[in-house]
Amino acid sequence: MNKIIDLRSDTVTLPSDEMRQSIANADLGDDVFQEDPTINQLESKSSELFGKEAAIFVPSGTMGNLASILAHCDRGTEIILGDKSHTFLYEGGGISAFGGIHSRQLPNQDDGTLDVEEIKSAIRTENDHFPKTSAISLENTHNMCFGMPLSVEYINSVALIAKENGLKLHIDGARIFNAAVALNVAVKDLVENADSVTFCLSKGLAAPVGSVVCGGEKFIYQVRRNRKALGGGMRQAGILAAAGLLSLNLAESQLLEDHKNAKLLAEGIAQINGLTIDEKKVQTNIIYFGLNSPKLTGSQLVSKMDNRGIKFFEISSNRFRLVTHYGITRDDIEKTLEVLDKMVN
Ligand SMILES: Cc1ncc(COP(=O)(O)O)c(C=O)c1O
Repeated sequence: MNKIIDLRSDTVTLPSDEMRQSIANADLGDDVFQEDPTINQLESKSSELFGKEAAIFVPSGTMGNLASILAHCDRGTEIILGDKSHTFLYEGGGISAFGGIHSRQLPNQDDGTLDVEEIKSAIRTENDHFPKTSAISLENTHNMCFGMPLSVEYINSVALIAKENGLKLHIDGARIFNAAVALNVAVKDLVENADSVTFCLSKGLAAPVGSVVCGGEKFIYQVRRNRKALGGGMRQAGILAAAGLLSLNLAESQLLEDHKNAKLLAEGIAQINGLTIDEKKVQTNIIYFGLNSPKLTGSQLVSKMDNRGIKFFEISSNRFRLVTHYGITRDDIEKTLEVLDKMVN
């Protein structure tokens, strides 16, 4: 059977044989009692890697962001975040539905940042007409902004604004290891001045399930309470953490490979008549490209490629996203380019 080349997301990866072995052999206990040794190991390794006092395993990035923002923000207060951020666009409005938290969306720039002057002027002054501002959330890498990594300097400049105004800074670091690899810095440096970070084990790190939140001890205590209330307290969850521990070890080498493959894909797309791409924006494992052809619509391209075993999403009309990951090899990139060229021309 021909391999399906699935470029829809880095969430589609399947666990390696080594991961399956580690899942089978994991030491287990009841994690709601904090007695699962494998979960405890993952949490202490994570807090160490991120330079924070504590960490907690959660079932998903969405729950990690929600439980964190609930811990930082009282009901009726406001969080500043990007209008293209995952939390605003794709997390079911959870912060509003479950936390009564008002979102103040600022335009994300192409590099995933929020303009620091706009952040400053979005912070509410004391006035009984206004909600109080309680937090700022940044996303690193930025999924909808070309997978761009946010630099240490930029994050520190936002952290300073947060500190000066008594606000918390949360980082949605679903793909923060991709940012660290692209910028050649440690993840610890990217969050040194942030109050909290969520990172995902189940994206580029290729574990089947799970995310981790890191932060101060008091904050993580509150996240633990929130996780329980949201139904995310799992029992012998060490079977998941076992895979996560392995993926932390593999992070750097795998992500470097994924970034190389993304660059190759972007270079190839730039050579195909009828496709458009801004190659400079491809810095991690996410690629956006456009179609400009009188012969073919976007949905026809997606379905023709799908029929040939190559999957990706049309994100908006004639604009597509491809994501490289553990399941994608250099040969897959070459095949994708060859078939794309055939379909478009
Ligand atoms: C930037 C970002 N944050 C958070 C999430 C949510 O993660 P999960 O799918 O594990 O809930 C995603 C998922 O794709 C994401 O891309």
